[in-house]
Amino acid sequence: MLVSYPDDAAFGDLTSLARIIEALDQFNEFVGSDPAGRRSLEWREKLRVSMPDQGEGLESVLKELCETVIPNGLRNGHPGFSGWVTTSPTTSGTAATLASTVAGSQRFWVQAFNLLEEVSLDWLKRLLGFPSTWQGTYCTGGSSANLIALGAARQWAVEQQGVDPAMTGMPDGMKWRIYASSEVHHVVNRAAAVLGIGRRSVVPIPVNSRRELDLGALESRLRADREEGWLPMSLVATAGTVNTGAIDPIRGMLDLAKEFGTWLHVDGAYGMFGVLDSRVAELYDGVAEADSVALDPHKWLAAPVGNGVAMVRDRALLGRAFTLEPASYLEGSADSAEQHIVQSPFDDFGVPYHDFNLDQSAPSRGVQVWAILKEIGRKGMIERVVRHNSFARRLEEVVRDSPQLEVLSPAVLSICCFRFIVDGQDDESLNSLNRRIASALRAEGTYVPSTTMLEGRFAIRPCYINPRARLDDVEGLASRVIEIGNNLLASN
Ligand SMILES: Cc1ncc(COP(=O)(O)O)c(C=O)c1O
Repeated sequence: MLVSYPDDAAFGDLTSLARIIEALDQFNEFVGSDPAGRRSLEWREKLRVSMPDQGEGLESVLKELCETVIPNGLRNGHPGFSGWVTTSPTTSGTAATLASTVAGSQRFWVQAFNLLEEVSLDWLKRLLGFPSTWQGTYCTGGSSANLIALGAARQWAVEQQGVDPAMTGMPDGMKWRIYASSEVHHVVNRAAAVLGIGRRSVVPIPVNSRRELDLGALESRLRADREEGWLPMSLVATAGTVNTGAIDPIRGMLDLAKEFGTWLHVDGAYGMFGVLDSRVAELYDGVAEADSVALDPHKWLAAPVGNGVAMVRDRALLGRAFTLEPASYLEGSADSAEQHIVQSPFDDFGVPYHDFNLDQSAPSRGVQVWAILKEIGRKGMIERVVRHNSFARRLEEVVRDSPQLEVLSPAVLSICCFRFIVDGQDDESLNSLNRRIASALRAEGTYVPSTTMLEGRFAIRPCYINPRARLDDVEGLASRVIEIGNNLLASN
């Protein structure tokens, strides 16, 4: 019999979620004259109210969620949305999240969700070709995955100097550097800041014409820095840069890491799943020999946002870097595991993920990856990646075929950057024109890419990871850019 107090929250009333699911289904149809774009902002006033003194009850919450919150949520799962590296989750991941929210509200202890953390990490290793001995750990996303991996790199590098940084902090008198291409995602610089290395200690190595790290430049810089007494903490290769999807020369960086006695970390937050496309798989050569990899199921796998993974070759080292340390309120509170008898779920914490990352309490995220891979399988994921990479290639073709469009970065993975061009106009005018085109696209909402700057040129930058995107959305984007561009020219 459930207890409920009149002034407290309702339990045991999950059937009322049927209304929420109906509202979400409606939301996911993305109907309306402006599917992803400009809408009335009245909802902001409705929601920006002071906290009630007297609770309004569950019914009021559900009503407001269905009528005001959900309809005014974020439409980044719209088929025409191709901005940044984000999308909204598919149904299996959503179902898994709901299940774990209610029935797996911590990732530890002897329970199904804890086991699925381990099972799904094993599936990811198998899918991506990583050694089965690597220690994976779920975290909130690419930012924390890179931070955790570089935390392990710091532990390793400083231990080589005879100091345990997790115990005693960073030693005085040593100068550290991290080396990454100038295209590295800024979460790496922030990780360096948090780890006490400093943003400025991340050395931006120039890139070649394909926007991959220039190996020669890296080698010269490593040599010069060594002469000046700088210690290399890690090389960071990006497997799929956020700007253009470029993949750094991982094998060459691995060789340099070995030569200079340093760690190789691969940031595959966006592009790691790209290894599943045989047309580009060889660009990933060496990843399985790296020391750590960051990847984001909440990007290409379309898991609910809040799902990143750090994989580290050396499990014990990762543990030394992130251990909570033995605590009587943890270890001492669940001791049956020592006798290999588990009579209660609370007798054992299972894999101690709290010793491998930043959180003690954390949601079960493995169940999301398990659910998605169980639904679509390895083949489904391969098909998705190949389809999206083909979208970017198709877009590149369409752009090359049009005298009014110009490719700014060819497709490697699922990004192709381009712009609208006009004979005789310089970069400055084209930048301003393309900025207006991007703004018009966002306002219309049918095709919503994001943008970036490439060598001073403003680029329209679609990135296809959205499982709902269709070829029509790809070709439609190119046509609409031309139409908007011509309209803007005509109205000037
Ligand atoms: C290459 C790369 N690294 C790191 C990140 C950061 O990941 P998150 O947004 O999950 O923190 C991104 C995000 O787009 C990325 O593309």
